[in-house]
Amino acid sequence: MDLFITCAQRLEPLLVEELGQLGFMHVEAGFRGVHVKNVNIDAVYRINYLSRLAGRVLMPLASFRCYEAKSLYGGIIKVDWLKYIARGKTFAIDANVSHPQLRNSLFAAQVAKDAICDQLRDRIGIRPNIDVQEPDVQLNLYIHDQWAIMSVDTSGKPLSRRGYRMESVEAPFQETLAAALLMLAKYQGNEILLDPCCGSGTILIEAALIASKTPPGFLRKQWGFFSLPEFSQTEWLKVKNDADSKKIDFPKHQIFGCDINKQAVHSTKVNARATGLHQQIEVSNCDFREFYPTVVPNLVITNPPHGRRLEDEESLCPLYRSLGDFLKRQTAKPAKGFVFTGSPMLSKEVGLAAKRRYVLDNGGVESRLLEYDLF
Ligand SMILES: C[S@@+](CC[C@H](N)C(=O)[O-])C[C@H]1O[C@@H](n2cnc3c(N)ncnc32)[C@H](O)[C@@H]1O
Repeated sequence: MDLFITCAQRLEPLLVEELGQLGFMHVEAGFRGVHVKNVNIDAVYRINYLSRLAGRVLMPLASFRCYEAKSLYGGIIKVDWLKYIARGKTFAIDANVSHPQLRNSLFAAQVAKDAICDQLRDRIGIRPNIDVQEPDVQLNLYIHDQWAIMSVDTSGKPLSRRGYRMESVEAPFQETLAAALLMLAKYQGNEILLDPCCGSGTILIEAALIASKTPPGFLRKQWGFFSLPEFSQTEWLKVKNDADSKKIDFPKHQIFGCDINKQAVHSTKVNARATGLHQQIEVSNCDFREFYPTVVPNLVITNPPHGRRLEDEESLCPLYRSLGDFLKRQTAKPAKGFVFTGSPMLSKEVGLAAKRRYVLDNGGVESRLLEYDLF
């Protein structure tokens, strides 16, 4: 089978690299995702369980020309839906549509739902129920350039929902994006890492998962692929147990964070506890300008506030200047510093020459990860 692995825009090359490291040979970057060709069901288990960057693992069931609602209905009804939606099971469709004749994604999803329900009613006499919250089968409809692809979402819930976010702060940082920053920083798991504006601790927790070789899906109990006709509990447990057996203990005093906001620090602690790695993630509630880490870091990765309006941005200039000073003074030499920000204006205030800039997308905001050599 062929799969399409979704990811945030601009993460495609990094996801290609990650899937290559996981041993997949036929991978090709697409738009907001990566095609993986010629694989078997094992790949569905492995990518879902092991990819730190993937958003969803989609398994296409049908792809066809789609000119308007009629051809959409006609293409969907050809799929053998009884194979995927057994009697009594619920389903939902997530649609992403850009098409001149199909008014919007909701309308296209409705047409697809009608086709599925009509087919099942004709075959078994019952229309399946829709459940948008907890469907047994999550489907994905993508229509672009008069071409429709209907897939089963083998992940179910997005893979960024690792299962450790017990408490959140305003605008939480995506787990997959935090993993991407660590990958771009070439984090190996043995550096002394500090996030001086750690918020709810996403970068620190993702780092601890990498350092302990904990699969990103370790805490998840529910997977979309459980409902696939090809699903084999034995094969899935083989993949899971094999990956879990590679987990390692790693020493304390390697991962540090601080944040000026008490509630954010509390969230980091609660979230870290959910992973069982809370003893290895040391967080303090303070202003980083008054923070003197017990072990001097040789890697700093941080995502300071960047402000939404111009006046907010301007008021943050001193913070970014202090961050530049902090990177110079409070790190081991040589060290690496990475600052992730959505504000080009503020990035200049760091006052250090960036060795590289990576452009990424943070929830629709074009953002940059700036890399500094500190020596
Ligand atoms: C964009 S958020 C970071 C989000 C974080 N990556 C996460 O996983 O939730 C920026 C954080 O910087 C913190 N912050 C702002 N000024 C600070 C300072 N002077 N010292 C320490 N933390 C600060 C804020 O409280 C906020 O939690």
